[in-house]
Amino acid sequence: MASVQQLSTKHVLGIKYLTAADVELVLDTAREFKEVINRPIKKVPSLRDITIANLFFENSTRTRISFELAEKRLSADTVNFSASSSSVKKGESLLDTVNNILAMKVDMVVMRHPAPGAHHFLAGKIDASIVNAGDGTHEHPTQALLDAYSMRDALGGELRGKKVCIFGDITHSRVALSNIFCLQRLGAHVRVCGPPTLIPKHVGSLGVEVSYDVQESLHWCDVANVLRIQLERQDTKYIPSLREYNRYFGITKERIARLDKPIVIMHPGPINRGVEIDTEVADSEHSIILQQVENGVAVRMSVLYLLAARRNEV
Ligand code: CP
Repeated sequence: MASVQQLSTKHVLGIKYLTAADVELVLDTAREFKEVINRPIKKVPSLRDITIANLFFENSTRTRISFELAEKRLSADTVNFSASSSSVKKGESLLDTVNNILAMKVDMVVMRHPAPGAHHFLAGKIDASIVNAGDGTHEHPTQALLDAYSMRDALGGELRGKKVCIFGDITHSRVALSNIFCLQRLGAHVRVCGPPTLIPKHVGSLGVEVSYDVQESLHWCDVANVLRIQLERQDTKYIPSLREYNRYFGITKERIARLDKPIVIMHPGPINRGVEIDTEVADSEHSIILQQVENGVAVRMSVLYLLAARRNEV
């Protein structure tokens, strides 16, 4: 595959640091890789000489498997590291851990870490390209890119002028911030909706609308991106109970039945069925949740391919 354009950055630390042209380039390149992974032979030799370390200091199902598959489809060599079974448990620092892995001649690092800023810290210390696979409550750039790709697919074109509402626990969500930046780069109108306790006070300063009315927001939007209630990140009680959350803020089958217009339903996973979204909605004809997962592989192939191409050129 020949690509003449390049990303403006050596790392993908967050959508905040990508230009609109970078986002378009990733999405356009992902379209070519989507075609590749639907062929009988799903593999291309593009990253044959590249070694990638997948460092996961936090749990993951979708992102970890998706990156591993993307790397295999590109013929990269990979090593997988999980903090729970590593010398981190013996007190080894992040920098020592990464430097030891890089000493084995690794070119790129895909990392998930609970600390916002961990990726920035490393980017200033090591030569390898870094891809943020989620940093605490801060950013999850490849999720936002695959979400944008999936929205374009579902709506049949550009997102400029489209209305996207992000529902749920905005405060604890890295997907929310990355989606806001990414959708704004693509010209979409963005709204957040949820209980006041789960919406950051100053989110409006990012240029998004804020609503506490779920039914009205469902009527407003072309796409509803529903986020998980992140109980594991909540050290205080933000909602009285999960049952009440579903009743007042859930994307329920009754609320969807009241709509007299098309709507696309998304969720980055993992889903709390019966809490932020009803099973009947998650599995309905409106839902593109599994298409998001499928598109994630092509989008991550695109990100890795473009970063490798930049390393070879610079
Ligand atoms: N969407 C997402 O990041 O899922 P995982 O936590 O399973 O990777």
